[in-house]
Amino acid sequence: MERKLKVSRRRLLEGVATLAVAAGAGWYAAGRGVFDARTGEPFAPWTAFRGRRGGELAELVRAAVLAASPHNTQPWLFEVHPDRIDVFSDRSRSLGTMDPFLREMHIGLGCAIENLALAAGSMGWAPRVELEAGPLPGSDPEGSRALEGAAPRAIRVASVRIEPGAAASPLVEVIARRHTNRGPYQAQRVPGSALQELSRLSEAGSDGEVVWLEHPDQRESFAAHTLRATETIVRDAAMVRDSDAWFRLAPEAVPSHRDGLTLDVMGLGPLLTAAVKLLPRPSAEQMHDDWLRVTREVHLAGDPAVGVIAVRDRYDLGARLRAGRLWQRMHLWATARGIAMHPLNQVPEVIDRERMLGRAPAMERSFTTALGLGDRQLTFAFRLGFPEREGVCGPRRAAEEVIRAA
Ligand SMILES: Cc1cc2nc3c(=O)[nH]c(=O)nc-3n(C[C@H](O)[C@H](O)[C@H](O)COP(=O)(O)O)c2cc1C
Repeated sequence: MERKLKVSRRRLLEGVATLAVAAGAGWYAAGRGVFDARTGEPFAPWTAFRGRRGGELAELVRAAVLAASPHNTQPWLFEVHPDRIDVFSDRSRSLGTMDPFLREMHIGLGCAIENLALAAGSMGWAPRVELEAGPLPGSDPEGSRALEGAAPRAIRVASVRIEPGAAASPLVEVIARRHTNRGPYQAQRVPGSALQELSRLSEAGSDGEVVWLEHPDQRESFAAHTLRATETIVRDAAMVRDSDAWFRLAPEAVPSHRDGLTLDVMGLGPLLTAAVKLLPRPSAEQMHDDWLRVTREVHLAGDPAVGVIAVRDRYDLGARLRAGRLWQRMHLWATARGIAMHPLNQVPEVIDRERMLGRAPAMERSFTTALGLGDRQLTFAFRLGFPEREGVCGPRRAAEEVIRAA
């Protein structure tokens, strides 16, 4: 009897200890955002855009902030006027050596402009987008060094004028469902008819066009160049540092910054994501080595469909903004059809970096020749496919935070 009591007391104590450990681990895990990190204020903007007819002009900014941007830097500011919204770059949100001429920053601004214009249509207005003409101080390769210090923080890049008349597009419906998907894609290929329709989304008369790498040799060459470019970035301490500055790995970094790349958007899947969150923060070097491995083993594995946006001059301001508008439109179109997309821009990033350092344009020459681009210049590269898992939303700053006094 006494033995029985002892055993059951021991069991009880063991049970209590297990519960205590589990509760502690649960508390620790909750503190590290392991269970569901995608709730709360940083994610509220994903449900804030209403887009009803007769709404206020400022409502359009709620759609704009949901756009894609490099490393989720959200490099935008908006001024709301009675007849238009002016879009400004916010140069304090640059990727540094990862984007030395602010080319990607302006592609991101083009993405926001596209969301603004689409949203205007759904609110009963006809938008007229007027893009500023370059060159811009601090983002033109020819003049950037000299002007860098003098460049103001915010520069107007476009005005979206609002006129009566509706140009509603069904793409508005998916603005809040579009997410970059970095996870694995299925073997089933995106049909050629979908690729053709995506190409047609390029504006008539625009200098930007979508080039599909249709031949397996082209895709193999794209993969080899992308891996080589990723290795170059991973070995470049300044690029790793500037890229890492936008990683928000600690749970408290997400609500305080509401931007950047979180562990949830890496496409690792729920279990691996939860496990990684429990580990100490990896170093910038470790993170980028892992990125190289995932690029090889996930992003480029299985011969995915790959396309690039090519332009006549990648440093031309209009070409950058139009490339961004096109990317956003394509991604929305794909989202509406269950097709996932994922930019893979290591090659153009290395092309910019070679230019910034005054080196011979080795990556540019090799890629252009291998892919048969002729006199067209690569400015954006991506894969697409049917995803194994849904893409997830990243944090966003609210519209109110990025509207400045007119
Ligand atoms: C100009 C530009 C370049 C980008 N390059 C990459 C890239 O090379 N790799 C990547 O994983 N995502 C890339 N992205 C996707 C952004 O990281 C993504 O848009 C951002 O984190 C916001 O997430 P969301 O698109 O899911 O809203 C790029 C986006 C833009 C606009």
